[in-house]
Amino acid sequence: MPELNPTIPTGSLVLVTGVTGYVASQVAKQFLERGYKVRGTVRDPKRASWLVDDVFKSYAASGDFEFATVPDLATPSAFDQAVKGVAAICHVASIVNFDPEPNNVIPQTVAGAVSIMEAALTEPSVKEFVYTSSIVAATIPAPGNVTRVDRSTWNDQAVQLAWSAAADDPKHGSVVYQASKVEAEKAIWRFVEEKKPHFSVNSVCPSSIMGEPLDRSHIGSPAAWIKQLYDRNVAFLSRAPALFAVDVKDVARLHLAAVLDRGVRNERLQAWSHPCNWNDILAILRQLYPQHEFVEDLRGMTQLEITTDQTLSEALLRRWGSQDGWTPLKQTVQENMDPILGWESTV
Ligand SMILES: NC(=O)c1ccc[n+]([C@@H]2O[C@H](COP(=O)([O-])OP(=O)(O)OC[C@H]3O[C@@H](n4cnc5c(N)ncnc54)[C@H](OP(=O)(O)O)[C@@H]3O)[C@@H](O)[C@H]2O)c1
Repeated sequence: MPELNPTIPTGSLVLVTGVTGYVASQVAKQFLERGYKVRGTVRDPKRASWLVDDVFKSYAASGDFEFATVPDLATPSAFDQAVKGVAAICHVASIVNFDPEPNNVIPQTVAGAVSIMEAALTEPSVKEFVYTSSIVAATIPAPGNVTRVDRSTWNDQAVQLAWSAAADDPKHGSVVYQASKVEAEKAIWRFVEEKKPHFSVNSVCPSSIMGEPLDRSHIGSPAAWIKQLYDRNVAFLSRAPALFAVDVKDVARLHLAAVLDRGVRNERLQAWSHPCNWNDILAILRQLYPQHEFVEDLRGMTQLEITTDQTLSEALLRRWGSQDGWTPLKQTVQENMDPILGWESTV
């Protein structure tokens, strides 16, 4: 493998916000496995004990993994202490409760993004900053949308809808979430433009994330979608007739690459991976678990027509991972299901 000459040396401290989360715990794992130290922000250390008692036990024992408590990302100066002495920041935490009331989600998500940037600005040790955005910050991943997404594409429609449509419709929570990702990522780039920070900034924009959950608590997150399909619980899934599925470890590796690669600056790294729908995933499940009884194929499934250039993301996965591009969907499905089935069998 060629010499990679990372932006920050191994042993440097990396801040990962919302480290209890499905994605952030995998981001932390990537850095720890590469020889970096990780400080993870948590809302409640008690609910995060699985990280230090189990998944990152040896790293916690050696002092390579530690917590910083940040009870609410929207509190002014929430991250001021957490950023002390860190060389890089991955701001992964976001309000993902799909509350349909925009006033409960959008201003807070933006405030969190700006406040961690402001904290970083006062900390000379910070060299790299990565914001976890989403495909939905750029466009609505829905059938009939033929947008070609590039560096300057924004899902402004979601912002307008979030504030104008009925907040008493539970389905509105998805639009509000989309708008929060648009507004927070825009706030990040506005900050870069206006404040010209001493650190470099990138965003990672994943589609629907699937793959290995590190803890049972992730069964309540998107890590549960494939399990819902397995359980014949398809009412929610049927609302998305097509998607792009990306592996959680690929998303985590792109965070690592965005921090460590000297050639990546001011990028919005799209991470969409496989165009598919729930029937494609059902077909994989039937192969993997032939004894299990599955639902018939879902009606109305189709393919998305939005497109983007993922050449840089794919090159980074090759450079900073041991794989040739995206993880195959079959592997993602299996790595998503096997731990969940294992936990179920020990209940
Ligand atoms: N999963 C996907 O398919 C997907 C796709 C595109 C982008 N993303 C983005 O990926 C990131 C992680 O999502 P995820 O799927 O890993 O969700 P997750 O498992 O629910 O993790 C969310 C994290 O954010 C923390 N958090 C939520 N509200 C907070 C608040 N008010 N103050 C402080 N921390 C708060 C949570 O803390 P607790 O553990 O205490 O609840 C948790 O650690 C988010 O930025 C999301 O927008 C996800």
